[in-house]
Amino acid sequence: MNAQPIPAPAPAELDAFWMPFTANRQFKANPRLLARAEGMYYWTPDGREVLDGVSGLWCVNAGHGRREITDAVAKQLSTMEFAPTFQMGHPIAFELANRLAELAPPGMDRIFFTNSGSESVDTALKIAIAYHRAQGAGQRTRFIGREKGYHGVGFGGISVGGMVNNRKIYGSSMLPGVDHLAHTLDIEHNAFSRGLPRWGMHLANELERLIALHDASTIAAVIVEPLSGSAGVVLPPVGYLKRLREICDKHDILLIFDEVITGFGRVGKPFASQAFDVTPDLMTTAKGLTNGAIPMGAVFSQRKIYDALMQGPENAIELFHGYTYSAHPVACAAALATLDIYAKEGLLTRAAALGPQWEDAVHSLRGIPHVIDVRNYGLIGAVELEPRAGKPGARAYDVFVKCFERGVMVRQTGDVIAMSPPLIIETAQMTRIVETLAEVIRETA
Ligand SMILES: Cc1ncc(COP(=O)(O)O)c(C=O)c1O
Repeated sequence: MNAQPIPAPAPAELDAFWMPFTANRQFKANPRLLARAEGMYYWTPDGREVLDGVSGLWCVNAGHGRREITDAVAKQLSTMEFAPTFQMGHPIAFELANRLAELAPPGMDRIFFTNSGSESVDTALKIAIAYHRAQGAGQRTRFIGREKGYHGVGFGGISVGGMVNNRKIYGSSMLPGVDHLAHTLDIEHNAFSRGLPRWGMHLANELERLIALHDASTIAAVIVEPLSGSAGVVLPPVGYLKRLREICDKHDILLIFDEVITGFGRVGKPFASQAFDVTPDLMTTAKGLTNGAIPMGAVFSQRKIYDALMQGPENAIELFHGYTYSAHPVACAAALATLDIYAKEGLLTRAAALGPQWEDAVHSLRGIPHVIDVRNYGLIGAVELEPRAGKPGARAYDVFVKCFERGVMVRQTGDVIAMSPPLIIETAQMTRIVETLAEVIRETA
């Protein structure tokens, strides 16, 4: 595509925007700006092409600039830009819920709309507590999360999350009564596993230990990402998720899968629970739901949970929860257009077809100096680099910046470079991502 230059802000104009999850001073001294996008590519304001190796931020699954989404959004904006969903409704909200229910894992056909992954997580945690209370088990209020888990940035999400920088300064303000399972990353046993690691299923048994400590009667739910993305791509060992499911069932504890990254085709099925054949009770989603075009999230619930809450007088609100923008009509329009693209182009299963090729591509990075692990599943890949002495994350940050300068966008967390390209990726683009990364890692001491 012919990229026309777009004016970039002058250095002084960068000050007012307090950027999220960004080293603001470092960034503003040397900004990386994106001005346009189409298909697999971004363009910088001065017209330089950048291949998108991370789907924006794990969300643009169908690739950029999809006309169908733009048209649906424009049409909805001119038809009805907003309508409330508190004691009111609008048709496409119901249509979208029905469409999502058709895609969902077995029984998960009740959908609560939010605006982000963080809101989906807090919503699911609240539903879990409300469910137990409706069942006469109001003392079940504890949650079990997992180390290295990322569940967004709400107080609920950081409480059950397990990324230390997101938690440490908010310590005393977090939800009480939360405990954490050990994470499943073990480079000593599982380095360079192709697909799911074989070692580590037994780590799920730690849930029994936590249940023995707190007593099942106090625990509302266990929440995990079936496959963690943000902490640097941590895969579930073979059998691990099934074991969690069995233990939760045994003790009447709800299992919540946070599929904000894994949902909508990232791992070769619509949802990771289908890819791993383990069905949770609640499932949180966002990102790929609208292809990143309009903020939206959705919590999928087992019908039994919804039904349990439909009690009391008919004029009573059953769940005191919701957002002004829950099922925002413009977001619903974007989501419906996105689901149409996914269906028409077979994108929700394309990662399974491309998986072996992607796996070979990312594992070609094995053997390059400083590469201590390569991990992959579906269209997700990660390269873990040996940290520089006393400077955790510095090597991977340099790799990330150099890749961007050479026209490939990847994501850095700690010493991990993560990749999750749009599901429309072609072979030559996979090769370019991996070759650029190889070249840059070789040059980065
Ligand atoms: C698993 C998971 N949960 C929740 C979130 C938070 O989503 P958001 O940034 O839309 O609030 C993310 C974001 O990356 C995520 O990966």
